[in-house]
Amino acid sequence: MVRWECVLGTIGLIVAVAWALYLLYLFLEIHVLPGRPLTVYGANAKLRGAGSWALVTGATDGIGREFAMQLAAKGFNIVSVSRTAEKLAALGREIEKQYPGTKTCYYAMDFTHAGTTEYEGLAQLISHLDVAVLVNNVGVSHTMPVPFLEMDEAEMEAICEVNVLGTQRMTRLVAPRLVRRGRGLILNLGSFSGQWATPLMATYAGSKGFLIAFTQALGEELRRAKVDVQLLNTYFVVSNMSKVRRASLLVPTPSTYVAAVLSRLGRASGALGRPFTLTPVPAHAWLDWVTAHFVPGWLLLRKAYDVNVSVRRRALRKAERLAKAQ
Ligand SMILES: NC(=O)c1ccc[n+]([C@@H]2O[C@H](COP(=O)([O-])OP(=O)(O)OC[C@H]3O[C@@H](n4cnc5c(N)ncnc54)[C@H](OP(=O)(O)O)[C@@H]3O)[C@@H](O)[C@H]2O)c1
Repeated sequence: MVRWECVLGTIGLIVAVAWALYLLYLFLEIHVLPGRPLTVYGANAKLRGAGSWALVTGATDGIGREFAMQLAAKGFNIVSVSRTAEKLAALGREIEKQYPGTKTCYYAMDFTHAGTTEYEGLAQLISHLDVAVLVNNVGVSHTMPVPFLEMDEAEMEAICEVNVLGTQRMTRLVAPRLVRRGRGLILNLGSFSGQWATPLMATYAGSKGFLIAFTQALGEELRRAKVDVQLLNTYFVVSNMSKVRRASLLVPTPSTYVAAVLSRLGRASGALGRPFTLTPVPAHAWLDWVTAHFVPGWLLLRKAYDVNVSVRRRALRKAERLAKAQ
């Protein structure tokens, strides 16, 4: 006769052991296992200048600036791209001073208004460089949370132009070179907004949601050519865009954030189970995993809505005060 309590006990034991092993692996993913070394893409910190090149967009501030600095530290030469030529030139000087021998060049362009001429100019600049890494970092958001129906048309277009079209155009410009050289890396700056969706920031959230699907599709297409593509799932980081000035456990500095990315390339960390996705910062990784598995989507949407309603109220009051003071 079948002893049901034994059968159920055995099933329970198997499930508990499977979960324990899974949680152990998750812990190792988030805190212990190292990522792919950058030397596979041609970084050469011993003989600076001899390494391949990394191209970083939005490179003069925040996360992009840290990517430029830390990739240079790892032994890449750097192509930096953003709007302001003086800031780009100063960044190049700083890199060359801190890491003597490193080569830099820059290209000033505004992704909001860039057309064929601008992209061709950049293609021309990099035509003789061995570019191995592309960091699609540039991104713009709403100036403040805003109901979609009240949003300025120009803001909507700028977000789509920079975050969605800019990323695709840069990828089409650089990826064929990575395929030809037989090894390369593309990092796309994603956001928790793309995964959870954020009411009152619908266009930004949508643009980052686009990057999730885009990165996964591209990752599978380019995998066979040994070009690694990863979406960086990012919660808050101290920067002008986030408007957060002080670092905390859940809001790292750009320096901590980029170091976490570069030490975990090729891993998933908290995005375990989602292909071509990395949630690099440990605190973000646990938040990602717990919310993805245990918090209902409707609850996240309602909470995000409430938070953004109050952020908008404060931002409108501040704008009013500033207008009065002028
Ligand atoms: N910070 C966060 O909490 C957070 C969270 C999730 C995702 N992200 C993503 O991370 C990326 C970087 O964000 P961040 O916080 O580091 O931003 P940031 O500090 O505001 O820096 C933005 C950079 O992009 C450049 N830039 C801005 N608009 C541009 C345009 N139209 N054309 C060319 N360059 C432009 C800026 O330089 P110039 O002004 O000189 O052009 C600057 O170098 C974005 O894709 C963002 O969506 C950030």
